[in-house]
Amino acid sequence: MTEIRNYHTADDVAQAAAENAVELLQLAIETKGTASWVLAGGSSPMLAYKKLVKDFYNALDWSKVTVVIGDERMVPLDHKDSNTGMISSLFNKNVELAKVKWLIPNTALDTVIAARDYAAKIAAENFGEFDLVWLGVGEDGHTLSLFPGNVAFTEPTEEWVVPVYDSPKPPSERISLSLKALEYVDELVIFAVGASKQDALKEARLKRLLPVSVASDVVETNGGEVRWLYDEAAWNDD
Ligand code: 6PG
Repeated sequence: MTEIRNYHTADDVAQAAAENAVELLQLAIETKGTASWVLAGGSSPMLAYKKLVKDFYNALDWSKVTVVIGDERMVPLDHKDSNTGMISSLFNKNVELAKVKWLIPNTALDTVIAARDYAAKIAAENFGEFDLVWLGVGEDGHTLSLFPGNVAFTEPTEEWVVPVYDSPKPPSERISLSLKALEYVDELVIFAVGASKQDALKEARLKRLLPVSVASDVVETNGGEVRWLYDEAAWNDD
């Protein structure tokens, strides 16, 4: 099932995403003892991460949650462009959130090898399905590091993690979960926030073949739930 939820501000979206994450991760922990959560890079989900750290740090046992970064730029952890670095420095500010278990890509490796290595780390966890996946959207409709026209998006693959070269959004070398990995998702939450995303999101609602709309379709076709969380700035009905 796909659902669109409209909120007033990006802050309201962040609040809704944080509440939803706590509910779903807690449910997974109650059911299986652990929970898996794929994190989105970029700036859109940062407000929601901050809310979790500030207001939800004691909402569940974070040591039972394994976090997987959905895509990573091939830079060291302490580089300003590192998705893992940005999010983990935020989580580490709180003693409870600091307890999550991280699956971290080794960005010191060659990009192809790093993708394989990360896929093996994920496979070793035997998640079955990811309980929750957060994704952002780029102005061009990319999601994860799957960009329109880039082979990481256009070439079908059985691999769960793909190397990415020539990303139009710097840095140009990355690794990313593939569309294949999105076949194994219980719930996908897409951060549709900010005026700069209006056009891409409208295209996505019209079912044009953008990475973010294909990602959403893959999850839904394979039985997952998809929630698009919009703020007013990102919604354009004209
Ligand atoms: C990345 C991403 C990417 C991001 C979108 C949106 O590493 O760049 O994970 O897919 O989510 O580009 O980024 P913003 O939220 O910063 O606009």
